[in-house]
Amino acid sequence: MARSIEMQPREGPRQGAPSAPFSERVRRLPTLGLGVSTEYGARSAGGLDPLRLAREHPRFARFLEVGVEVERGLDADAEAWIAQGLPSTYHFLDVNLDEPEDLDDAWLARVRTLVARLRPAWLCGDAGLWHFGPRERGHMLLLPPILTRESAAALASGIATLRAATGLEVLPENPPGQVFVGDLHLLDFFAEVLVQADTGMLLDLAHLAIYQRSQGLPPDFALDRFPLERVVEIHVAGGTERDHQGLAWVEDLHGVEVLPEVWDLLAAIVPRADNLKALVFECERNPLAETLAGFQRLAALTAPRFSP
Ligand SMILES: [Fe+2]
Repeated sequence: MARSIEMQPREGPRQGAPSAPFSERVRRLPTLGLGVSTEYGARSAGGLDPLRLAREHPRFARFLEVGVEVERGLDADAEAWIAQGLPSTYHFLDVNLDEPEDLDDAWLARVRTLVARLRPAWLCGDAGLWHFGPRERGHMLLLPPILTRESAAALASGIATLRAATGLEVLPENPPGQVFVGDLHLLDFFAEVLVQADTGMLLDLAHLAIYQRSQGLPPDFALDRFPLERVVEIHVAGGTERDHQGLAWVEDLHGVEVLPEVWDLLAAIVPRADNLKALVFECERNPLAETLAGFQRLAALTAPRFSP
């Protein structure tokens, strides 16, 4: 029999004054702990039921990260989660933060409407190109940013704009990719963005591991000079190794088989990320039973930070 949900209802945004520095604002963010992701229609594609996970394994679903395109809105699983008054984060899937014209009044109005319903702890999402040209429903292009200082400045400006427009923290995520353009290492690029926007970050360890492999670099390359105190949230997801005509690459499929170096990165980063508030296992399109081993290992690795 399913157990009752033991989580506390969400308290809604309690963010600091927008003019306060990140080091002060971050102290007011809630510690969400270990959570699970969803996107519109994920369950109908064979994925898990987030509320069932929360009922049967509450320590694996302390919050729900809701992937949102404003054109699609929230699906039945997200609505059911809201109806329970449970904690969430808003993961955007439809904005190019480095393009000022993409943060138009119509899009911002729809974001505010969804924020009012979801009452997320913060906004987050891949800081890349979600679309090329005008925004279209279901576009989901997601190209990585150009890794230059000029691009970092444009991205930082968009983050600050969205933070001011919503009153919520906006955590950029390092996007996936196989080919990157620009003269900066991915971590140096995001370090520049974080300082210029004076923001925290969502560090996706699967995306980072795939990037390092694509560059022929060790998994932890450049991590020693990265401001880990700005990592507020971490993503972990499974990747699938591929080979195309001799070119080895990893597909970011959000499966349950997590690359070994992602576990190593997580073990190295969790004790050093002083402002870590949340970790998501991105496994929304997998049957619930197949996700449990991964959740158990994540819970063990994060237990010192996310005590019950
Ligand atoms: Fe991610």
